[in-house]
Amino acid sequence: MSQQVPVIVLREDTERTRGRDAQRNNIMAAIVISEAVKSALGPKGMDKMLVDGFGDVTVSNDGATILKEMDVAHPAAKMVIEVAKTVDAEVGDGTTTAAILTGDLLKQAEVLLDKKIHPTTIISGYRKAAVKALAVIDDVAEDVDPAAADYKKILIDVAKTSMSSKFVSGYRDTLSKTVVDAVLAVAKDIPEGEELNIENVPRQKQIGMTVDKTELVKGLVLDKEVVHAGMPKKIVGAKIALLESALEVTKTEFDAKISITDPSAMTSFLEEEERMLKDMVSKIVESGANVVIAQKGIDDVIQHYLAKEGIMAVRRIKKSDVERVHKTTGAAIVSKIKNLTAADLGKAKIIEQREVADDKMLFIEGTPKSSVVTLLVRGGTDHIVDEVDRALNDALYVVRDIVVHPQITYGGGALAGEISNQLRNYASTLVGREQYAVNAFADAIESLPNTLAENAGLDPIDVIVSLRKAHTEGKVNHGINITKGKVDDMKKARVVEAAVVNRQIIMSAAEAAQMILKIDDVISSKGGPGGMGGMPGGGMPGGDDE
Ligand SMILES: Nc1ncnc2c1ncn2[C@@H]1O[C@H](COP(=O)(O)OP(=O)(O)OP(=O)(O)O)[C@@H](O)[C@H]1O
Ligand SMILES: [Mg+2]
Repeated sequence: MSQQVPVIVLREDTERTRGRDAQRNNIMAAIVISEAVKSALGPKGMDKMLVDGFGDVTVSNDGATILKEMDVAHPAAKMVIEVAKTVDAEVGDGTTTAAILTGDLLKQAEVLLDKKIHPTTIISGYRKAAVKALAVIDDVAEDVDPAAADYKKILIDVAKTSMSSKFVSGYRDTLSKTVVDAVLAVAKDIPEGEELNIENVPRQKQIGMTVDKTELVKGLVLDKEVVHAGMPKKIVGAKIALLESALEVTKTEFDAKISITDPSAMTSFLEEEERMLKDMVSKIVESGANVVIAQKGIDDVIQHYLAKEGIMAVRRIKKSDVERVHKTTGAAIVSKIKNLTAADLGKAKIIEQREVADDKMLFIEGTPKSSVVTLLVRGGTDHIVDEVDRALNDALYVVRDIVVHPQITYGGGALAGEISNQLRNYASTLVGREQYAVNAFADAIESLPNTLAENAGLDPIDVIVSLRKAHTEGKVNHGINITKGKVDDMKKARVVEAAVVNRQIIMSAAEAAQMILKIDDVISSKGGPGGMGGMPGGGMPGGDDE
């Protein structure tokens, strides 16, 4: 036999962890992330203050926001953050729960790995458990009938539950109504082939009033004022020209020098420029428009002539608002002013500049195409307005979730209690080691009510014992009543959630946990922030022998 020669494939500065070490490190990192957000869960959860590299401060209770702001290096930790982001993008709420569940699934798996149960057995057990958990949700979820008398009340309850864990919880009675009105107003006429989208409920933040002054206005509100003092501030029967290009004489990209020797040439040069600007104005006048909404700037001379013609104009509108104006008023987005015709104009019953809390804003009301509503989000300071806005975003999402998928489940750990109870029964029907994995899944789900109880200052052991008892007795809707400090009927307490949010949490968390468990080799090139150096807690690298 020839002597073995080592073959070096990886670069010298590459770090590699394999087998149990790699698993342990990944699991540790995921748990660290999940532990970090645990204290934020539920109505008694605490908020986090995050300071970024520029010193900007964010104060939030929102799982996705907290995790997005955290500067995380470990690849497995990033995967947990991805779970929160996915849940946020798909259903809007439940991001903290999803991150906690991912961490706890891995924590439980670690115990099984220590018992020498093979990762693939755990993975297949987790897969079965997730399928069963989704079946339990299907089983216990209650259908919501949009035609029923209490439909709106249920939507309000769902919005309230979502907001009860946020800074705005004190205002949730009024805010939940506003949120439901907003979603229902938009849901009532969605254009063919389009989905109900929360983007159609634009929000304008305003600092300087209390949170309960947050209000819903019918129509589109642009945070812009009319450009010229001589222009009308209100137009009834608006015909809108929506322009993408600047209403200015375009400057050349390179510097040009024009030598003028004759004073008359100077005059004709200026006249030519003015003529070009006047041409633009006459194009607008000819089209019949009485309102100009421009994405870019408007030259002073043009402003003057538009004012003389009694045309209202606003400029520098955000791209997203241009899209909204286009959608709701039917105005075509015109990029070349010379092509503007009457057919391109959008319509609105009234466009008016109004003063709202010292700010001048443009209200566009009575639009022919899909209806838009705008939420004017208010609060005393920058940080408050931002957090109110995030809470409203979650609540708008969950109400939309119910409108699109009309099914509810009960919160406060009621659903989790039922899932873990049924999973344990299911585990006992399985033969082989997968049974352990299904039980571990049940334990991980149970950590959610456990955390809720802990955060509310209740004894988690007592709470879990009574929760288990209630669910073995068939009390499907029993969860933790935080105000009473005991396990009780959540249907009576009106702690209502969207079933689809819970489905998404289970699917995303289970998938991520399985993916992390399947990794047994981590190869990372050093130097970058993604290297293994950022790993918290793990016995890395080189592995100290245990
Ligand atoms: N009144 C209540 N009583 C008991 N539990 C409640 C009540 N209101 C909400 N909860 C529970 O609080 C949990 C939600 O907490 P929280 O909103 O902090 O986290 P999340 O929804 O998972 O994540 P995020 O809102 O940050 O995206 C859910 O389990 C919910 O059932
Ligand atoms: Mg929430």
